[in-house]
Amino acid sequence: MSILVTGGAGFIGSHTCLELLNSNHQIIVLDNFSNSNMESLNRVKNLTSKEFKVYDVNLLDRESVDHVFRENHIEAVVHFAGLKAVGESVEKPNYYYQNNITGTLVLTEMMDKYNVRNLVFSSSATVYGVPEDVPIAEDFPLSATNPYGRTKLMIEEILKDLYVSSNDWSIAFLRYFNPIGAHESGLIGEDPKGIPNNLMPYITQVATGKLPELNVFGNDYSTPDGTGVRDYIHVVDLAKGHIKALEKVLSESGVEAYNLGTGQGYSVLELVAAFEKASGQKIPYKIAPRRPGDIAECYADPSKAERELGWKAEKSLEEMCLDSWRWQEGNPEGYLIKEVEIK
Ligand code: UFG
Repeated sequence: MSILVTGGAGFIGSHTCLELLNSNHQIIVLDNFSNSNMESLNRVKNLTSKEFKVYDVNLLDRESVDHVFRENHIEAVVHFAGLKAVGESVEKPNYYYQNNITGTLVLTEMMDKYNVRNLVFSSSATVYGVPEDVPIAEDFPLSATNPYGRTKLMIEEILKDLYVSSNDWSIAFLRYFNPIGAHESGLIGEDPKGIPNNLMPYITQVATGKLPELNVFGNDYSTPDGTGVRDYIHVVDLAKGHIKALEKVLSESGVEAYNLGTGQGYSVLELVAAFEKASGQKIPYKIAPRRPGDIAECYADPSKAERELGWKAEKSLEEMCLDSWRWQEGNPEGYLIKEVEIK
């Protein structure tokens, strides 16, 4: 019996594959590599000394997805595959709805067909829209402010309907806060294409000299230092949350949402200071206008995950910064460096 991991070559996906293998699960990866690199999976194989099958398949390709289910004995799915850039989703809503929603529908259709009813879904704190209060609990009102967020919200709704249709489904939505860090080996990490949208990869690229300085988007929010506050969580903690959620869905049916965050908020300037301290690198920055759509504060109440999954984030902000830096310093061009070496 295997766990199918869709989008397993991505940032969170690859770290989760590694934790799944380390906890003795057999895995199969499906990825179309549109925003990821096979090299991440090669490194997961090296780090774990374990083998697994990888399918270069797009979830929109029904025939090929059917083939993956037909060929393997799958007992559960961890579903990461999807597009995730907020700005791009505003430009190309059709592309986002097609990929994320239709892709998920093809996946759940095949799960239904092959009687696989256990699913862990990669959701996001973005489903809380503009939260009225912090910390954010799972029963807060849900909304979306952009097409990307709406795909996450719609998929949650679709999956709830599946459970209503048949109570033998067992589904967990994991609502991630802000994943950063990298595996402590420095061999796998976040590898954004082009100029990063997110804060930590931007900071690490300033640290290597690839980008000249950080733009801090707004210092007039109602937060202690005026800059935006987020709940940064180490990607390895996040990956371990998937193992706990998987154990839960394999043991009982139901549909539940869980926040995966630390419960602790840090501002942009606090993250910059923590990174400078951990890495010894200076991060030049300037204050820039607010980024449209950003909220002042977003951090989790993670107590439900601790209570029901027995999971709690363990790694400190210092470890997140050290590990992000180790990855970036050792792989300044991300996974591409390896391909260049091979040529
Ligand atoms: N920021 C900067 N400069 C940058 C990038 C970000 O100042 O160059 C600031 C933002 O304004 C924000 C904070 O850093 O205050 C974090 O920004 P990120 O882009 O790293 O993360 P977000 O919280 O905006 O977005 C993340 C995910 C989204 C998800 C959202 C809500 O990237 O996919 O959390 O869950 F939708």
